[in-house]
Formats: sequence, structure tokens, C-alpha cells
Amino acid sequence: MIFKIARSPKGGQVTHYDEYEVSVTKGMTILDVLFIIQDDVDPSLSFRYSCRGAVCGSCAMLIDREPRLACRTQALMIKQSSLNLKAFPAIENKQTGQAQNPMVLIEPLPNMRVLKDLLVDMTPFHQSFESMKLWVDPTEGNTPRTQTPEELSRYERYVNCISCGICHGSCPVSSYHHEYIGPAPLAKAWRFYEDSRVTNRERYLEAAKQSNGAPMCELVMNCVKSCPKDVAPGGAIRRIKDTG
Ligand code: SF4
Ligand code: FES
Repeated sequence: MIFKIARSPKGGQVTHYDEYEVSVTKGMTILDVLFIIQDDVDPSLSFRYSCRGAVCGSCAMLIDREPRLACRTQALMIKQSSLNLKAFPAIENKQTGQAQNPMVLIEPLPNMRVLKDLLVDMTPFHQSFESMKLWVDPTEGNTPRTQTPEELSRYERYVNCISCGICHGSCPVSSYHHEYIGPAPLAKAWRFYEDSRVTNRERYLEAAKQSNGAPMCELVMNCVKSCPKDVAPGGAIRRIKDTG
């Protein structure tokens, strides 16, 4: 298979694309392909990874114009699968776009500054969690804070977020409005708001409803379709909006 990879040796804009032919066998992921290219052909190719098992969230990138985890994307399957995302300039609807091209395009995650090749700057993404104070405030004493299975079920899916940034990269609102907080921090805010053990729940809702938060979301739901952990941030954002 031919892989066409976006290159940005000094960061900023993509300057060119390099093409590499890699012999792909069943079970190989896009991350495996990148390792082969880096090991055997071009050691200067830069990309981020850690766990190789869809746990750390490091390897998010644009694969055939769809945001995916490289370690979880089978190279042989990429032409047959589609996330059916709403298109915007950085990404395509696979039914009409890149799927027809025999080459596999690999590019950095959209809506983030490129540091080098497939590496993007995640700092603003992580700073949103910081600025919204998305953690539990310590309380006095050691009283156990138990909860029922029903209470747990209200926020359990949001706990699965691995902070990969794919939802941010798939969001047309994030593309047009750089000040938008984005889907992942809003889902996390709802996670704490729904946790019966948290004492000052309202502060998470207030943070989520700030002007560059949930009010900016247009409920496109690309985040729901692309999230590799089934977190469905768009559902959380809809609930935040429904609180009035
Ligand atoms: S909500 Fe999903 S897509 Fe967004 S950062 Fe978390 S795991 Fe990644
Ligand atoms: S390398 Fe950790 S999620 Fe892909």
C-alpha cells in the first residue's frame, strides 16, 4: 500500500507530502506502518505514541481525512470504513472523498498547531481542563462516599475519556472558532456535575455554560461519531444546554 504522509519539518504549515510504499499484512495498524517507515526509510518522521493499545490517547491523527487513533486503525480496513462525519475543510465525508483514492493519507489532527509532521501541540486542549478546574475539590474527613449503581451509571461513560483530542479535531465549530473550549472538557464537566459524591456540583455546570463553552456547540455530533472510547461528548453537551 502507498501511504502519503504530511510533512512539516519545522512545524506550522504542512510543507509537502512524502509517499512511502509499505507491505501491509492482516492485523497491521497505521501505527505499525509508521514504525516501519521510521525504522527502515525515514528516521526523521515524527509522531506521538505510548501505549499502542488505545489507552494513552497519544496517537490521534487524521487518517484518510478522518480523525482516528493510529494504534487502533487497521491499515487494510481503512478504505472500507467510514465514520460518516459532517465534512469541513480539514476532513471529508468518506463516502464522497478520499475513499476513492488508492493512497492512504496520513495528516496531523486538525484544529491544533502542528509542532512537526504528525505531532500537534496539545497544550491549549489540556489548558481547557485546567481553566475549568475539572477535578474534585478535597473535603474534610474520611467519610466513605458510596453510591448506587444507578448513580454511577449517570456519568460512567464519560469516565472513559483518554484525552486523545479526536473530538476536538473532528469538530467544525473548533475549526472555525478557536476560542471554543471543545467537546472533551465539556463532557468532563458534565461527568463531575452528575457525580453524586461531589459536593459543589454547580461550579462544573457554570464552567461548562460560559460563553465559549456549551453555548457555542452546534450539536453537529462529529465528536460522538469519532470518539474511540464511546464517550459521546455531544450527548453531555446537549444535556448541559437543556439545563437552561
Ligand atoms: S471524549 Fe473521546 S474523542 Fe474526546 S478526548 Fe475523550 S476519548 Fe478522545
Ligand atoms: S499509542 Fe496510546 S492510544 Fe494509541
